[in-house]
Amino acid sequence: MKKIDIFKHLSWKIKYEAGDMPYPPVLFWKNDISNEDIIKAWKNTINFIKNKEINHNMWLYVHIPFCYTHCFFCTCVTKVEHNEKKYDEYLDLIEKESILFSDIFKWIKFNTVYVWWWTPTILSAKQIDRFYNILKKYFDLSDVNQIMTEWSPYTTTEDKMKVLSSHWINKMTFWVQSLDSNTLKTNNRFQQFDDVKNSINLARKYWIEYINLDIMAWIPWQDLNWFKETINLIKTLKPTTVHVNSFWPTKNTNFIKSGWIYWYDDIKLRNEMEKYWKFLEDEESKITDTKKQNLQLYNSHNYNSSILWLWYWSISHAFWNLHYSKDSFDAYRNFILWYSICSFKWFKLTLEDEIITYLINNLRWGVNYNKFLELFWLDLRNTNIYITKLKKLLTDWILVEFDNNKYVKFKINSDLYCSIYSKFLYDDKLINEFWKYILINKSEFLNLDLKLKQFFTD
Ligand SMILES: C[S@@+](CC[C@H](N)C(=O)[O-])C[C@H]1O[C@@H](n2cnc3c(N)ncnc32)[C@H](O)[C@@H]1O
Ligand code: SF4
Repeated sequence: MKKIDIFKHLSWKIKYEAGDMPYPPVLFWKNDISNEDIIKAWKNTINFIKNKEINHNMWLYVHIPFCYTHCFFCTCVTKVEHNEKKYDEYLDLIEKESILFSDIFKWIKFNTVYVWWWTPTILSAKQIDRFYNILKKYFDLSDVNQIMTEWSPYTTTEDKMKVLSSHWINKMTFWVQSLDSNTLKTNNRFQQFDDVKNSINLARKYWIEYINLDIMAWIPWQDLNWFKETINLIKTLKPTTVHVNSFWPTKNTNFIKSGWIYWYDDIKLRNEMEKYWKFLEDEESKITDTKKQNLQLYNSHNYNSSILWLWYWSISHAFWNLHYSKDSFDAYRNFILWYSICSFKWFKLTLEDEIITYLINNLRWGVNYNKFLELFWLDLRNTNIYITKLKKLLTDWILVEFDNNKYVKFKINSDLYCSIYSKFLYDDKLINEFWKYILINKSEFLNLDLKLKQFFTD
């Protein structure tokens, strides 16, 4: 099998398992790490940032892990929970975890705080107030650039919005997904256009500066006319930005769990929808005010920023030291209550891993050699391993160079090929490990072309 085919298999596998964010992907991580190892890794990262005085723009991430219903399209591992006592227990654990880290992070002024996932608004106004007070008490948020929270329109109330505003939240994302009540009902989700409109009005009344709306292209059985209607209605609300996510049938979705297949016709329809919203992306690319952008993505691309992510089902990143994922509640509780071993997945990060992450994240838009030098104190043109790989991609006409070698980027503008060719930069040891996996699990990759098209546009 040619290397490029191995990269195709890997691209699909990572997307299907919904773990495409970190490098190396979770697929290659190990099990079991001690609490001490996690704390030690963070101490190393923080000392490094302090001693080098580097601009690192660290993020704090917290998700509020309860939902009213389980939406049929959703790729998250969710928990439907209506018992308010459980929300208090959650806040108690978040406080314990914050205490655990507060001394180690006392030197760090966080650049962004993101509160997201599932349904943050499910908490009462009083609980939301307690939540932000915990974060402010144990972490230094005095210099924060963006405090962003994500919100469900159908659970927004005026008293909750008042609390948010009192905690300096300056950006909100409202989960909309679609404005067609029939599509939403079929997907086990209940929300009306008026809920969205009223939530935005309330956010404006309480001086929330930036408003983003998230919608999806091809929610199961959504039709093209209603998708267009959703976009038209959204425009009348004048949000700062709109993010459109194309549906992926990952293994976590109830769509896949119930045995549905995402056929070529569905993919074609999703492609039609994608064409219709491209102008939104173009509009966003003109925004130069970074506060209006997704600052966490910006920081991760520009600074390989570390992420302290509270609660479980989360992936933290201690720069040049460790990735770890707290992937079960029991393991998380053991960690917080300081029982010896916590069965988290983890990967020890080397400088080389950080460099590969940086290249993968930036080749789509272009890697600037000077910025690379600032971050890694290496001239990319003289660092043998990477330049050999980049040169190979240059000679195969996959990359282009600009401005007297100051800048290199992908020539192609396709999700699929950017994803496949970015695997070329992966560590060869990982690729060999994956090659063995393909040989043993051939049946998993049958009909690979259709499988790839379910996730990528080309
Ligand atoms: C972490 S999810 C949280 C969704 C949120 N709790 C809500 O009620 O809408 C964040 C974003 O992922 C997107 N998303 C969810 N399921 C998806 C899927 N199967 N494929 C692609 N994007 C998906 C949605 O657009 C959503 O706004
Ligand atoms: S889309 Fe949001 S509310 Fe629906 S199941 Fe997923 S996380 Fe929960």
